[in-house]
Amino acid sequence: MRILTGIQPTGTLHLGNYFGAMRPAIEQQTQGEAFYFVADFHSMTSLFDPKQRLMNVLGVAIDFMACGLDPQKCVFFRQSDVSEVTELTWILSTLTPVGLLERCHSYKDKLAKGLEANHGLFSYPVLMAADILLYDSNIVPVGKDQKQHVEVTRDIAIKFNNTYGKTLVIPEPQIQETVAVIPGTDGQKMSKSYNNTINIFGEEKAIRKKIMSIQMDSRTPEEPKPDAEKNSVIILMKLLDPSVGKEYEEKLRIGGLGYGNLKKAFFEVYWNYFEGARKKREDLLNNLDYVRGVLKEGADKARVIADEVLKRVKVASGLGSL
Ligand code: ADP
Ligand code: TRP
Repeated sequence: MRILTGIQPTGTLHLGNYFGAMRPAIEQQTQGEAFYFVADFHSMTSLFDPKQRLMNVLGVAIDFMACGLDPQKCVFFRQSDVSEVTELTWILSTLTPVGLLERCHSYKDKLAKGLEANHGLFSYPVLMAADILLYDSNIVPVGKDQKQHVEVTRDIAIKFNNTYGKTLVIPEPQIQETVAVIPGTDGQKMSKSYNNTINIFGEEKAIRKKIMSIQMDSRTPEEPKPDAEKNSVIILMKLLDPSVGKEYEEKLRIGGLGYGNLKKAFFEVYWNYFEGARKKREDLLNNLDYVRGVLKEGADKARVIADEVLKRVKVASGLGSL
């Protein structure tokens, strides 16, 4: 069974990314043949600074490895290092109805936010389909917002198989329902576009300040809070440390615990949780050649599968040898 997922190098990673995408991927790296990549081609639809892109790719790779991604257990690579994916994108695009892409929420949301609609942004799901299909992926762990893109991938793969004969593996999305939406400091979905993130790595003082700024309601500390399980600090705390999280949930429910003290306790849990990862990250930052080597080796392994699948696709669709 092959598991595949990608992460875009578009910003600093936060707890939403960690629980929604990274931790599930890290947990699954031993449950099958895992292929994980940094989606730098995708980042081109919204990031136009070349130096920043290179820095972000290394940054995401370092942070992912610091958090537990083990290149011995999975194939970890940069998307653009296996450029065969763009060839498959073209082939798939000829079987993709325009209406299918027009219905994608992620595209519509970006348009609504006023983003200029370049063709890449529109055809983003076709490149994502190529990512998935190029490696005969069976399972694609993603956040809820990406589920539709995996469904588009399935539609395209089925269309290909109906047109040219059974060639492509039909993948399944995998959504972790318990961590489907991680709340940010304002209670909305945590997202770098909403400026409500708590980053995985950052300077202690700044993160402490961010955590202390998490919005709470105006009930007094003494008041019992029967809805304690809905408190966003409790939700995050239980994800980081279930036993301490439950203990604080109970304290809040009974009454007598102030929100300031709750947030202070949460900071400690958060800071301890990532202690090992911070040390690992320091080592990796001092060893960039090692990180570059990991990605290169990953791309070499990924290319072996990519070449095989692309050849199959080309033979099936009349692009094989004459
Ligand atoms: P952002 O919303 O900050 O731009 P991305 O869209 O780059 O984050 O998300 C990268 C991955 O992290 C995706 O798989 C996405 O589903 C997941 N993710 C991001 N924010 C959250 C969140 N608040 N809750 C759950 N998963 C999230
Ligand atoms: N679009 C995904 C995101 O924004 C990243 C991604 C690119 C991806 N290609 C993929 C995820 C293939 C899963 C499979 O989060």
